Amino acid sequence: MLRQAQDGRLRLGVNIDHVATVRNARGSGYPDPVRAALLAAEAGADGITAHLREDRRHITDDDFARLSAGLPVPLNLEMAATEEMLAIALRHRPHAVCIVPEKREERTTEGGLDAAGQHNHLAPMVAKLREAGCRVSLFIEPDERQIDAALRLGAPVVELHTGRYCELPEHGRAEELKRIADAAALAAKAGLEPHAGHGLTFDNVIPIAAIPQVAELNIGHFLIGEAIFDGLAPVVRRMRALMDEARG
Ligand code: PXP
Repeated sequence: MLRQAQDGRLRLGVNIDHVATVRNARGSGYPDPVRAALLAAEAGADGITAHLREDRRHITDDDFARLSAGLPVPLNLEMAATEEMLAIALRHRPHAVCIVPEKREERTTEGGLDAAGQHNHLAPMVAKLREAGCRVSLFIEPDERQIDAALRLGAPVVELHTGRYCELPEHGRAEELKRIADAAALAAKAGLEPHAGHGLTFDNVIPIAAIPQVAELNIGHFLIGEAIFDGLAPVVRRMRALMDEARG
Protein backbone atom coordinates (compact mmCIF):
# COMPACT_ATOMS: atom_id res chain seq x y z
CA MET A 1 0.00 0.00 0.00
CA LEU A 2 1.15 3.52 -0.79
CA ARG A 3 2.51 5.26 2.30
CA GLN A 4 1.59 8.96 2.45
CA ALA A 5 3.49 11.52 4.53
CA GLN A 6 1.99 12.55 7.84
CA ASP A 7 -0.16 15.67 7.49
CA GLY A 8 1.68 18.93 7.94
CA ARG A 9 5.18 17.46 8.05
CA LEU A 10 7.76 18.74 5.58
CA ARG A 11 8.10 15.91 3.07
CA LEU A 12 11.39 14.62 1.68
CA GLY A 13 11.42 13.43 -1.92
CA VAL A 14 14.60 11.51 -2.67
CA ASN A 15 15.80 11.78 -6.27
CA ILE A 16 17.54 8.54 -7.29
CA ASP A 17 18.70 9.61 -10.79
CA HIS A 18 22.37 9.45 -9.96
CA VAL A 19 22.26 5.82 -8.90
CA ALA A 20 21.41 5.25 -12.56
CA THR A 21 24.25 7.61 -13.58
CA VAL A 22 26.74 5.33 -11.80
CA ARG A 23 25.18 2.21 -13.32
CA ASN A 24 25.21 3.70 -16.82
CA ALA A 25 28.88 4.69 -16.51
CA ARG A 26 29.70 0.99 -16.97
CA GLY A 27 26.67 -0.14 -18.93
CA SER A 28 26.10 -2.76 -16.24
CA GLY A 29 22.91 -3.77 -14.43
CA TYR A 30 23.94 -2.28 -11.09
CA PRO A 31 23.57 -0.25 -8.92
CA ASP A 32 19.81 -0.43 -9.41
CA PRO A 33 17.90 2.85 -8.87
CA VAL A 34 14.78 0.90 -7.88
CA ARG A 35 16.68 -0.80 -5.07
CA ALA A 36 17.87 2.64 -3.95
CA ALA A 37 14.29 3.95 -4.06
CA LEU A 38 13.05 1.10 -1.86
CA LEU A 39 15.89 1.63 0.60
CA ALA A 40 15.29 5.40 0.71
CA ALA A 41 11.58 4.84 1.36
CA GLU A 42 12.39 2.43 4.16
CA ALA A 43 14.77 5.00 5.68
CA GLY A 44 12.10 7.72 5.77
CA ALA A 45 11.80 9.29 2.32
CA ASP A 46 8.21 10.42 1.84
CA GLY A 47 8.44 10.11 -1.92
CA ILE A 48 10.78 9.18 -4.75
CA THR A 49 11.65 11.50 -7.59
CA ALA A 50 13.06 10.46 -10.95
CA HIS A 51 13.90 12.61 -13.97
CA LEU A 52 13.40 10.78 -17.24
CA ARG A 53 15.53 12.97 -19.47
CA GLU A 54 15.07 13.12 -23.22
CA ASP A 55 18.58 11.70 -23.75
CA ARG A 56 18.02 8.95 -21.07
CA ARG A 57 21.43 9.76 -19.58
CA HIS A 58 20.43 8.27 -16.21
CA ILE A 59 16.89 6.96 -15.62
CA THR A 60 15.67 4.72 -18.47
CA ASP A 61 12.14 3.88 -19.59
CA ASP A 62 12.52 0.48 -17.96
CA ASP A 63 13.62 2.07 -14.66
CA PHE A 64 10.62 4.35 -14.77
CA ALA A 65 8.24 1.48 -15.49
CA ARG A 66 9.67 -0.50 -12.55
CA LEU A 67 9.49 2.54 -10.24
CA SER A 68 5.87 3.08 -11.29
CA ALA A 69 4.98 -0.50 -10.54
CA GLY A 70 6.39 -1.10 -7.14
CA LEU A 71 7.04 1.72 -4.66
CA PRO A 72 5.48 2.02 -1.19
CA VAL A 73 5.63 5.85 -1.41
CA PRO A 74 4.43 8.33 -4.06
CA LEU A 75 6.47 8.70 -7.25
CA ASN A 76 7.25 12.11 -8.73
CA LEU A 77 8.27 12.19 -12.41
CA GLU A 78 10.37 15.14 -13.49
CA MET A 79 10.02 15.69 -17.22
CA ALA A 80 10.45 18.19 -20.01
CA ALA A 81 7.28 19.54 -21.61
CA THR A 82 7.44 17.34 -24.72
CA GLU A 83 4.81 15.14 -26.37
CA GLU A 84 7.01 12.07 -25.83
CA MET A 85 7.25 12.67 -22.08
CA LEU A 86 3.57 13.53 -21.82
CA ALA A 87 2.67 10.18 -23.41
CA ILE A 88 4.92 8.34 -20.93
CA ALA A 89 3.40 10.20 -17.98
CA LEU A 90 -0.12 9.49 -19.17
CA ARG A 91 0.73 5.80 -19.59
CA HIS A 92 2.13 5.37 -16.07
CA ARG A 93 0.16 8.07 -14.24
CA PRO A 94 2.66 8.75 -11.44
CA HIS A 95 1.36 10.44 -8.30
CA ALA A 96 3.09 13.70 -9.30
CA VAL A 97 4.65 15.22 -12.41
CA CYS A 98 7.07 18.11 -12.14
CA ILE A 99 7.59 19.90 -15.45
CA VAL A 100 11.16 21.14 -15.78
CA PRO A 101 13.05 23.00 -18.50
CA GLU A 102 15.55 20.77 -20.24
CA LYS A 103 18.46 21.50 -22.52
CA ARG A 104 20.45 18.62 -23.96
CA GLU A 105 23.84 20.20 -23.34
CA GLU A 106 23.23 21.09 -19.68
CA ARG A 107 24.72 18.98 -16.88
CA THR A 108 21.66 19.47 -14.67
CA THR A 109 18.46 21.52 -14.77
CA GLU A 110 19.72 25.08 -15.15
CA GLY A 111 17.22 27.78 -14.23
CA GLY A 112 13.48 27.47 -13.87
CA LEU A 113 10.72 26.89 -16.36
CA ASP A 114 9.45 29.96 -18.19
CA ALA A 115 5.85 29.21 -17.25
CA ALA A 116 4.84 32.74 -18.19
CA GLY A 117 6.43 32.71 -21.66
CA GLN A 118 5.30 29.17 -22.50
CA HIS A 119 1.68 29.41 -21.40
CA ASN A 120 0.17 28.17 -24.67
CA HIS A 121 2.54 25.21 -24.90
CA LEU A 122 2.12 24.20 -21.24
CA ALA A 123 -1.63 24.73 -20.77
CA PRO A 124 -2.85 21.61 -22.63
CA MET A 125 -0.14 19.47 -20.99
CA VAL A 126 -1.05 20.61 -17.49
CA ALA A 127 -4.73 19.97 -18.27
CA LYS A 128 -4.10 16.43 -19.60
CA LEU A 129 -1.88 15.50 -16.66
CA ARG A 130 -4.44 16.80 -14.20
CA GLU A 131 -7.24 14.89 -15.96
CA ALA A 132 -5.09 11.76 -15.61
CA GLY A 133 -4.95 12.34 -11.85
CA CYS A 134 -1.31 13.51 -11.63
CA ARG A 135 -0.44 16.29 -9.21
CA VAL A 136 1.25 18.80 -11.51
CA SER A 137 4.15 20.88 -10.35
CA LEU A 138 6.13 23.51 -12.26
CA PHE A 139 9.82 23.97 -11.49
CA ILE A 140 10.20 27.76 -11.47
CA GLU A 141 12.46 30.53 -10.26
CA PRO A 142 11.21 32.13 -7.03
CA ASP A 143 9.61 34.95 -8.98
CA GLU A 144 6.16 36.55 -8.75
CA ARG A 145 5.64 36.48 -12.52
CA GLN A 146 6.21 32.73 -12.66
CA ILE A 147 3.90 32.11 -9.70
CA ASP A 148 1.15 34.08 -11.44
CA ALA A 149 1.76 32.04 -14.58
CA ALA A 150 1.52 28.76 -12.63
CA LEU A 151 -1.79 29.94 -11.21
CA ARG A 152 -3.12 30.79 -14.67
CA LEU A 153 -2.02 27.36 -15.89
CA GLY A 154 -3.94 25.63 -13.11
CA ALA A 155 -0.91 23.82 -11.67
CA PRO A 156 -1.55 23.11 -7.97
CA VAL A 157 2.15 22.97 -7.03
CA VAL A 158 5.24 25.07 -7.74
CA GLU A 159 8.74 23.81 -7.00
CA LEU A 160 11.02 26.76 -6.26
CA HIS A 161 14.52 26.47 -7.71
CA THR A 162 17.09 26.67 -4.89
CA GLY A 163 20.10 26.31 -7.20
CA ARG A 164 21.20 29.93 -7.02
CA TYR A 165 20.85 30.00 -3.20
CA CYS A 166 22.96 26.83 -2.91
CA GLU A 167 25.73 28.15 -5.15
CA LEU A 168 26.22 31.36 -3.16
CA PRO A 169 28.73 31.50 -0.30
CA GLU A 170 27.01 31.15 3.08
CA HIS A 171 27.52 34.82 4.01
CA GLY A 172 25.96 35.97 0.73
CA ARG A 173 22.75 33.94 0.75
CA ALA A 174 20.37 36.19 2.71
CA GLU A 175 18.89 38.01 -0.27
CA GLU A 176 18.26 34.85 -2.29
CA LEU A 177 16.85 33.09 0.77
CA LYS A 178 14.40 35.97 1.21
CA ARG A 179 13.43 35.73 -2.46
CA ILE A 180 12.61 32.03 -1.95
CA ALA A 181 10.74 32.66 1.33
CA ASP A 182 8.73 35.52 -0.21
CA ALA A 183 7.87 33.36 -3.23
CA ALA A 184 6.77 30.48 -0.97
CA ALA A 185 4.55 32.82 1.03
CA LEU A 186 3.07 34.34 -2.12
CA ALA A 187 2.42 30.93 -3.68
CA ALA A 188 0.78 29.59 -0.53
CA LYS A 189 -1.38 32.70 -0.19
CA ALA A 190 -2.56 32.16 -3.77
CA GLY A 191 -3.52 28.57 -2.93
CA LEU A 192 -0.50 26.82 -4.50
CA GLU A 193 1.60 24.25 -2.61
CA PRO A 194 5.24 25.38 -2.62
CA HIS A 195 8.02 22.79 -2.90
CA ALA A 196 11.73 23.52 -3.19
CA GLY A 197 14.82 21.81 -4.47
CA HIS A 198 18.11 21.70 -6.35
CA GLY A 199 21.57 21.69 -4.84
CA LEU A 200 20.45 21.09 -1.24
CA THR A 201 22.95 19.53 1.18
CA PHE A 202 23.30 18.94 4.94
CA ASP A 203 25.02 22.35 5.14
CA ASN A 204 22.44 24.50 3.36
CA VAL A 205 19.10 22.72 3.89
CA ILE A 206 18.04 24.15 7.25
CA PRO A 207 17.10 27.73 6.20
CA ILE A 208 15.08 26.36 3.26
CA ALA A 209 13.40 23.68 5.40
CA ALA A 210 12.52 26.37 7.95
CA ILE A 211 10.35 28.29 5.45
CA PRO A 212 6.96 27.42 6.93
CA GLN A 213 4.95 27.30 3.68
CA VAL A 214 7.31 24.84 1.95
CA ALA A 215 5.64 21.42 1.95
CA GLU A 216 8.27 19.27 0.22
CA LEU A 217 11.97 19.24 -0.61
CA ASN A 218 13.35 17.21 -3.50
CA ILE A 219 16.98 16.25 -3.04
CA GLY A 220 19.18 13.96 -5.09
CA HIS A 221 22.77 14.55 -6.09
CA PHE A 222 24.13 15.27 -2.61
CA LEU A 223 22.33 12.32 -0.99
CA ILE A 224 23.52 9.80 -3.56
CA GLY A 225 27.07 11.17 -3.40
CA GLU A 226 27.13 11.11 0.39
CA ALA A 227 25.75 7.57 0.37
CA ILE A 228 29.12 6.43 -1.05
CA PHE A 229 30.66 7.28 2.31
CA ASP A 230 27.91 6.58 4.83
CA GLY A 231 25.32 4.44 3.08
CA LEU A 232 22.00 5.61 1.68
CA ALA A 233 19.78 4.83 4.67
CA PRO A 234 21.83 6.79 7.26
CA VAL A 235 22.15 9.71 4.85
CA VAL A 236 18.38 9.86 4.22
CA ARG A 237 17.75 9.61 7.97
CA ARG A 238 20.19 12.46 8.65
CA MET A 239 18.55 14.70 6.02
CA ARG A 240 15.12 13.90 7.52
CA ALA A 241 16.41 14.77 10.98
CA LEU A 242 17.80 18.13 9.79
CA MET A 243 14.47 18.93 8.11
CA ASP A 244 12.56 18.05 11.28
CA GLU A 245 15.01 20.12 13.33
CA ALA A 246 14.43 23.11 11.05
CA ARG A 247 10.69 22.85 11.62
CA GLY A 248 11.45 22.46 15.35
N1 PXP B 1 14.03 19.37 -8.16
C1 PXP B 1 14.08 19.42 -9.51
C2 PXP B 1 12.91 19.93 -10.25
C3 PXP B 1 15.22 18.95 -10.21
O1 PXP B 1 15.26 19.00 -11.54
C4 PXP B 1 16.28 18.41 -9.46
C5 PXP B 1 17.47 17.84 -10.19
O2 PXP B 1 17.08 16.71 -10.88
C6 PXP B 1 16.17 18.37 -8.07
C7 PXP B 1 15.04 18.89 -7.44
C8 PXP B 1 17.23 17.78 -7.21
O3 PXP B 1 18.42 18.49 -7.33
P1 PXP B 1 19.75 17.89 -6.70
O4 PXP B 1 20.04 16.62 -7.42
O5 PXP B 1 20.75 18.96 -6.92
O6 PXP B 1 19.47 17.64 -5.23
